[in-house]
Amino acid sequence: MNFEPQLPNWGYELAQKKLDILIKYHSWLKETGIKTGLISQKNDQFIWDEFIVHSLYFSIIFQELEIKNKTIFDLGTGGGIPGIPLAITSNNLISLIDIKESRINELIRLKNILNLDNIKPTLEDANKTIVKEGLFVSRCYISTENALNLLKNKENSTYVVSSADKETEYDSEKFHVKHLNFYINKEDLRHIDVITVK
Ligand SMILES: C[S@@+](CC[C@H](N)C(=O)[O-])C[C@H]1O[C@@H](n2cnc3c(N)ncnc32)[C@H](O)[C@@H]1O
Repeated sequence: MNFEPQLPNWGYELAQKKLDILIKYHSWLKETGIKTGLISQKNDQFIWDEFIVHSLYFSIIFQELEIKNKTIFDLGTGGGIPGIPLAITSNNLISLIDIKESRINELIRLKNILNLDNIKPTLEDANKTIVKEGLFVSRCYISTENALNLLKNKENSTYVVSSADKETEYDSEKFHVKHLNFYINKEDLRHIDVITVK
């Protein structure tokens, strides 16, 4: 199967000029990422669609929220997903949080490989990070339901979290949850919830 580093229409303006560095990150994921267990064995197209294109939608959300020059915490970042594509396509500082030291060490090496100034790989338990108020993202780390529990009483916080297709029930007096649907390629629909605390 030929690998096509395509951008969906929604991502073209955001990422077209950053295609070279996104492709460099893709090469790193398929070589170092698989070799060091940051991601499991996947084909080239899957790595592009599910990890890179999916992550770009997080960046679209922060662009629409007009969030610039802020710190965003990527909880349970693993191989830097969605934090690395978010850093490549915005001027926010992305704090890449993971509890596994080996993952953080790989991300420190990646920072130099990609020459990315706006990432900060950080060895930390995300349960401690989220006690602060702020801006959070995560993909395949926790459910929307658990994110809502963690965010209780944390005013001025926004958590953008990958989710299932079904909308989660929530207390509308405490939170606002926007359930977004988008295609990562011609066929596959994905979902992200944008949770804000009232
Ligand atoms: C399923 S992986 C998802 C990785 C990445 N976000 C992705 O979408 O491919 C979950 C990651 O969360 C990390 N993790 C698990 N518990 C954690 C915690 N309490 N604090 C920080 N990271 C944690 C794991 O080490 C792992 O890298």
